[in-house]
Amino acid sequence: MTTTGSSNSWPAMSAGTASSPAGRGEPLLEISGLCVDYGFADDAVHAVVDADLVLHRGEVLGLAGESGSGKSTFAYAITRLLRAPGVITGGRVLFHYSPDAIAPAARSSLDLLDAGPEQLRALRWNRIAVVLQSAMHALNPVLSVGAQLTDVLRAHRRDMDRAARRARAGQLLELVGIPADRLGNYPHELSGGMRQRVMIAMALALEPQIVIMDEPTTALDVVTQREILEELMDLRDRLGFAILFITHDLSLLIEIADTIAVMYAGRIIETAGARQLYRAPRHPYSLGLLRSFPALHGPHQRMTGIGGSPPDMRQLPAGCVFHPRCPHAFGKCREDAPPLMRLRTSGRAVACWLHEPAAATPAELALPEPAAGPPERTLPEAAPPVVSATTAQQTAMTIQSPRSGS
Ligand SMILES: Nc1ncnc2c1ncn2[C@@H]1O[C@H](COP(=O)(O)OP(=O)(O)OP(=O)(O)O)[C@@H](O)[C@H]1O
Ligand code: SF4
Ligand SMILES: [Mg+2]
Repeated sequence: MTTTGSSNSWPAMSAGTASSPAGRGEPLLEISGLCVDYGFADDAVHAVVDADLVLHRGEVLGLAGESGSGKSTFAYAITRLLRAPGVITGGRVLFHYSPDAIAPAARSSLDLLDAGPEQLRALRWNRIAVVLQSAMHALNPVLSVGAQLTDVLRAHRRDMDRAARRARAGQLLELVGIPADRLGNYPHELSGGMRQRVMIAMALALEPQIVIMDEPTTALDVVTQREILEELMDLRDRLGFAILFITHDLSLLIEIADTIAVMYAGRIIETAGARQLYRAPRHPYSLGLLRSFPALHGPHQRMTGIGGSPPDMRQLPAGCVFHPRCPHAFGKCREDAPPLMRLRTSGRAVACWLHEPAAATPAELALPEPAAGPPERTLPEAAPPVVSATTAQQTAMTIQSPRSGS
């Protein structure tokens, strides 16, 4: 095995330093030390352990990891949607928001973990919208999509009359590529992709600053998936909201995310810019994930995947939780758990003893930092969207204003 010395130092990471410099604006959501258990005492499953993450204004932050790694639990916890037996046992989720449109410069912060029911009610949908896993099945089957969209507006936009709500609902549908004349359709009359678009339209209805999406396109075929993602990225560019995009599909994140955080057994084990992670992963698990899917462009690469199985969360190994599957594990890995540490040379963060200053880092985990460049392409091209981009753009421009200053 070829090895190279690592020149990184190990400054302890404080809240707000966990994310990559690829972020677009100032921090919007700062998560630090988040811990979530299912159950209590010795029987507790530690589903999220000491997680630090920062979502910046306008950024797409991807959260990747195998099934059961704690991604959804993380999303439920930060939005305070966690249900029993889930318990948040520690941490802070600071939301930095602008109090109103009139004084956009005056910023306030609220720890969502301390927020009361009224504060949460005011924030949800308005400032932070969530598209949960399998959300397209969450539509009410006995109400038309128009009724469901106008319900959201009736609850949160008291100043809108019935005609305005209806018009806005139509605009929202067109915004996500569905003709407004489908407002009268019931969910069963729409395809899976269209139902998912409706859920995204609902999430965008009140112009939130943050949209949290948990596997929003996983149930869809890859072509529909690409259509929706391209529309979503286009909307993000024009409307300026930030996205926390959760998926097990790292190849998808490489295309759409600015920054990627990789989760394993409830821990965030690497954060980096998407291109950095793709071209030069630092954690053996990230490298294993990258070698688990085929590249559709560029030279053929051998798919090796990751040996072994995800750990039983009730019986985690001592030391680094990845060590039973890690091809580079050594003595220390079996005894001490590596914290997520920032690498001074790049500003990115990794939890692996191989990047200690004196460690002999394997060459495959010490590739040079890549230069900035366009997003990597790993998914097939999409078919033309349902409505023309021009129509969708015109619609969006008439109903939305960029939040750049807010
Ligand atoms: N209600 C529950 N009671 C006990 N354990 C739970 C509960 N919900 C989730 N868990 C456990 O918490 C861990 C994290 O689950 P979570 O659903 O957050 O993972 P995930 O990364 O979202 O997985 P997937 O990709 O399959 O959606 C898993 O080990 C799971 O078994
Ligand atoms: S700390 Fe050790 S076991 Fe864990 S990922 Fe790094 S080398 Fe592998
Ligand atoms: Mg999940």
